[in-house]
Amino acid sequence: MSVLEIIRSRREITSFENKKIPGELLENIVDAAYYSPSGNNLNSREFILVQNRSTLDYLEKTTPYMKWLSTAQAAVVVTGRPDISKYWLQDASIACGYVWLTATDLGLGVGFGAVYHSEDQEESENREKHVRKELGLPDDRRVVAILGLGYPAEKPKEKKLLKRNETIFFEKFRQ
Ligand SMILES: Cc1cc2nc3c(=O)[nH]c(=O)nc-3n(C[C@H](O)[C@H](O)[C@H](O)COP(=O)(O)O)c2cc1C
Repeated sequence: MSVLEIIRSRREITSFENKKIPGELLENIVDAAYYSPSGNNLNSREFILVQNRSTLDYLEKTTPYMKWLSTAQAAVVVTGRPDISKYWLQDASIACGYVWLTATDLGLGVGFGAVYHSEDQEESENREKHVRKELGLPDDRRVVAILGLGYPAEKPKEKKLLKRNETIFFEKFRQ
C-alpha cells in the first residue's frame, strides 16, 4: 500500500483477536517510533513495548477509555521529556501517528488510549502515576498515550468527516 492508502484506510480498532503478534512485526512497529522525527532532533520521546498479559491488564485501568487493552496482544507506551524539549508533546504525538500507520500497513489494529490530559492536571497526574508505577518510569517522564495492538476483530463503520471545504483552505482561511 502507498502511504496515502494506509492513511486513508487507518481506523481505530477496539477489539482484537486472540492471536499472537509475530516479534518481527513488533520490531517494525518500534522502528516506526524510533525513526519518527522530533523537534530540533532532541529525541524527547521514549517508548515501552509491553507484551506481558498482566501488565496489559494493569494498564487497561489507566483510564476508563481503554477497555480494549484487555484484548490487545501488546502495547506501545509513548512517553515524553519536557526537560529535553519544549516540543515533547508534538514529538510524542507524531511518533503515535507513525506507530499507528505502520501497524495498519502490517495488518494490525491500534486502539489509542490518551493518558496525558491537558485540561485537568490532577487527572493527568493520577493517570500518569498509575503507568509510571508499573513500568518503573521516573517522575519527570510524561505519559502521553498507550497504543494497544492486535489483529482486528472488528471492521469499524464508516465515519463522518467534515466536508473537505470546511477543513481545507487555499491561500487564506475559509477560502
Ligand atoms: C488524541 C487522541 C486521543 C484519543 N483518545 C482515545 C481514548 O482515550 N480512548 C479511545 O478508545 N480512543 C481514543 N482515540 C481514538 C479516537 O476516538 C478515534 O481515532 C476517532 O474517533 C477517529 O476514528 P478513527 O481512528 O477510526 O479514524 C483518540 C484519538 C486521538 C487522536
